[in-house]
Amino acid sequence: MNACEGHTTNAVGSTSADFGEMSLAVMANDIEATHHAYLRQELPRLIALSGQVAAEQGKRNPQLPQICQIIVALAAELNSHMRKEEQVLFPMIRELETGRRLPAFHCGTLCNPIRQMVSEHDDACGALAQLRELTDDFERPTGASDKFRTLVAALENLEQDLQLHIEKENRTLFPRALALEEKRRLDSLITSYR
Ligand SMILES: [Fe+2]
Ligand SMILES: [Fe+2]
Repeated sequence: MNACEGHTTNAVGSTSADFGEMSLAVMANDIEATHHAYLRQELPRLIALSGQVAAEQGKRNPQLPQICQIIVALAAELNSHMRKEEQVLFPMIRELETGRRLPAFHCGTLCNPIRQMVSEHDDACGALAQLRELTDDFERPTGASDKFRTLVAALENLEQDLQLHIEKENRTLFPRALALEEKRRLDSLITSYR
């Protein structure tokens, strides 16, 4: 199974079912207030924690430095990804929903930024799959230190939250935004022929 399929529960924010009932603007607000806020708080903590555990126990557990490197790279990618959603894509989606006419987006259509975001989601899922593999499915090793156990538990939570976050965007917010854009396009076509 793909690392980003099949999970529908989450420690923060709405469930997938609640989420489907929201307007597009409220969905974008919900994602920013829960999943983006969670990542902004958790990623620096995970970088620091994985660095400490790798420095203290990396000789006995050679996978630890690699885990740390993956977290650092994932954090950089996700910070850039969230900025693009918050500064470009989500404002476009809000504008599309509020206006009755099709807005003139500088990138032409929502398809382009959405395709880019989905591709970046696939990259994040790849990193999660590597973290799962390197930790033997988030197994807390017997005799591991408290810090090591805390790190593995936090990585498992990260996977769960990021999977739900990506599922909300890929399966609900983005397809609905594209459908609304198509509707606005048809409406303006019909209006132009009246
Ligand atoms: Fe997001
Ligand atoms: Fe995203």
